[in-house]
Amino acid sequence: MPRIQENISLKAYNTFGLDAKARWFMEITHPYQGQEFLMDNVYSGLSKFVLGGGSNVLLTGDVDGIVIKNNILGKEVVRESDEHIWLEAGGGENWHELVLFTLSQNWGGIENLSLIPGSVGAAPIQNIGAYGVEIKDVFDSLRALNLATGQEFIFTHSDCNFGYRDSVFKREAKGRYLITYVTLRLDKKHKLNTRYGAIEAELEAMKAEPSIHTISEAVIRIRQSKLPDPAKIGNAGSFFKNPVIRVEDFAPIKESYPEVPHYPGGEGMIKLPAAWLIQTCGWKGLDRGTYGVHDRQALVLVNRGGAKGADLFQLSEEIMDSVREKFGISLEREVNVIGK
Ligand code: EPU
Repeated sequence: MPRIQENISLKAYNTFGLDAKARWFMEITHPYQGQEFLMDNVYSGLSKFVLGGGSNVLLTGDVDGIVIKNNILGKEVVRESDEHIWLEAGGGENWHELVLFTLSQNWGGIENLSLIPGSVGAAPIQNIGAYGVEIKDVFDSLRALNLATGQEFIFTHSDCNFGYRDSVFKREAKGRYLITYVTLRLDKKHKLNTRYGAIEAELEAMKAEPSIHTISEAVIRIRQSKLPDPAKIGNAGSFFKNPVIRVEDFAPIKESYPEVPHYPGGEGMIKLPAAWLIQTCGWKGLDRGTYGVHDRQALVLVNRGGAKGADLFQLSEEIMDSVREKFGISLEREVNVIGK
């Protein structure tokens, strides 16, 4: 069994760069190691928390119990047809490196999801998405260990119950599984998705014909121009979800703000960019010394160095209060808040 360490700083393990501690900490590189640990009665009373790339968590305090860092690697073609490749990847693989690998093999499907920080095992939990594609569009199945028993389960697409930045792992199964492997169904015959306006504009600026390779490059350029690099400024990408409201509730907003950007949000519903709501409340670029709001994307809260998770949490509450007051809309956090 891997070594269990005590009182470990999680600063290097979360992209906000917050200096919380784990009471206990363990890294696993193989599912057997996880199973051996989870099935040992000695540890059954410990609360268990799985960490992937740490790119979607806000640590508001120290973590009691044990943090299990998932370092399970591997990429394997498990099935192939004339049109598709089924690629199984270890939950500890870095997501963007997996995207680059699929591009090197000329397999399509996840090029729009280039440069998303985080691990493969975490990707289905919030159904990562960007530029018109979500992981659910290519997801086949995943394998996971039940944290209470160590037993392995397979989750099919329908078991995952995917929604916008949502899955069973954020609801009924929250905090109950360690995702060991994810299988994606990729395309040998590429289906390009350039519907998201910014991609077309970027391809034009690049003077490039659309292909999985140029789309990936365009997405990388767009992301780099808007989103802070977590290696330089601590952040967890979008902090809030884009809210979906009823058409009736949208009408008065549209009347006061005719320029409000909006998208169809399903039957009788409208999706609004949280970034616009937050910007309109005056938060964009907020600088409180150690922390604040990114100046090029109002949906991103940043640790400028030395912030506390509790400060960022408090700021998120203030932002939510002001959006509620001005627009009558309750924003929902996209990041997972962990800690005391
Ligand atoms: N906007 C503002 N102010 C800003 C930024 C954006 O008003 O500071 C407005 C713009 O008018 C723009 C609209 O918001 O038309 C949408 O902006 P953007 O295209 O940047 O997308 P987003 O809605 O802010 C979502 C995802 C991102 C994803 C992009 C691209 C969520 C919560 N966020 O952001 O995902 O990369 O679309 O598809 O759905 C993430 O989940 O961490 C993430 C970065």
